[in-house]
Amino acid sequence: MDPNDTDSRSFNRVSVVGLGYIGLPTAAFIASKGIAVVGIDVNQGVVESVNAGQIPFFEPGFDELLSRVVKEGTLTAQTEQVDADAYIVCVPTPFRGDHSFDTKYIRAACGALAPHLRAGTLVVLESTSAPGTTEDMAKHLVELRPDLSLNDEDDNAIFVAHCPERVLPGKIMEEMENNDRLIGGLTPKGAELARQLYSTFCTADLLVTDAITAEMAKLTENSFRDVNIAFANELTVICDRLGIDVWELIELANHHPRVNILQPGPGVGGHCIAVDPWFIVSAAPDEARLIKTARDVNDGKPEWVMKQVLRALEGKEKPVVSALGITFKNDIDDLRESPSLEIVKRLSVENPHLDIRVVEPNVKKLPPVLSNLSNIKKQETMEAIAAADVVLLLVNHKEFITLEHSVLQGKKVIDTKGIWS
Ligand SMILES: NC(=O)c1ccc[n+]([C@@H]2O[C@H](COP(=O)([O-])OP(=O)(O)OC[C@H]3O[C@@H](n4cnc5c(N)ncnc54)[C@H](O)[C@@H]3O)[C@@H](O)[C@H]2O)c1
Repeated sequence: MDPNDTDSRSFNRVSVVGLGYIGLPTAAFIASKGIAVVGIDVNQGVVESVNAGQIPFFEPGFDELLSRVVKEGTLTAQTEQVDADAYIVCVPTPFRGDHSFDTKYIRAACGALAPHLRAGTLVVLESTSAPGTTEDMAKHLVELRPDLSLNDEDDNAIFVAHCPERVLPGKIMEEMENNDRLIGGLTPKGAELARQLYSTFCTADLLVTDAITAEMAKLTENSFRDVNIAFANELTVICDRLGIDVWELIELANHHPRVNILQPGPGVGGHCIAVDPWFIVSAAPDEARLIKTARDVNDGKPEWVMKQVLRALEGKEKPVVSALGITFKNDIDDLRESPSLEIVKRLSVENPHLDIRVVEPNVKKLPPVLSNLSNIKKQETMEAIAAADVVLLLVNHKEFITLEHSVLQGKKVIDTKGIWS
């Protein structure tokens, strides 16, 4: 087949680079359509776990799909890159200390896949990226492989696209196939090939655009959420100052037919909403004023929650705080950028006299950043509540929502998610 014939392209082998929360489900979904997928990860432990058919993280319902495609042999994992018709790059995209976009994982992934490129290969950047990253990545690939071209019309062309991911951890099985997707081609042929690849497993609309618009659209979605959450978080602080119940206030305001205020919380966490707005701020610092302020408001919320806890404990000689939940959102095990984890850690470090009990049904043991602190221990819900002077609800896990309210009687309760209000 002519490598430049994008009209009827089939993908015999796809390489998915980075087998984390996003890459591994993507690899498994493509493999479930009968396409040979090789998952590449630098972490040998992840590779072994995948080849044993076991998910290295928690995602409801995904274990069955993974073990099936591994057993059938359509998905294999390894550390060394392979020849493939298409590469999907799903490596981490963190920010640096100054909040600028860090491309080190993307560049490392490019370095490993560049020797395997040939005319007609498709490279998709799926990692959430700052505006212009896909183009920079493509230029880097042809720097590494000057025998290849980025011009659609050349015989030695490779094709590049950005297809950002929108799934919600915890709902990946449903959303991976059913969410509409953005297909941002660096060139028209890049867009068309990427559309064909994603149509193998995605049944929703595939919305074709250019790469930089797709990059910015993904960042915009998460910044929209961040700004709206910041509004709710700021209301919490204002209402506390004015002696108003914020939960009742939001409930009442949301009866307006065109108002839909989100629920406040202890801050904003995770790998996306707490991170992605910074890529816009860093790309346009003078213009992104509201987006920057929203980040500051949300990043300031853990400090405000800590002050509430210390205020509630005033006068106690041996104060016990029981913190319910440390993940960044409900019913998952993901601790990345978690404001709840930060609150617990800072309460412990800055107040060594506190006795802190942590309840977290979704993790087997506390992460070292907490377990290394001598005034913190993990406990079961009832035991922790019984011992508490202050019950600090940080995450709305289902186990806490269904708790009998009577067990909280006589306790000071700080409910940052409003589940018991
Ligand atoms: N987790 C989410 O909910 C979510 C949602 C949408 C988009 N994203 C984006 O998807 C991207 C990946 O996120 P994730 O949550 O899957 O990350 P993750 O940390 O769960 O997984 C990344 C994996 O990449 C591997 N890796 C790192 N460098 C590598 C390299 N050079 N070659 C091969 N493997 C390498 C790591 O070992 C790890 O297993 C990020 O850009 C993130 O912003 C994440």
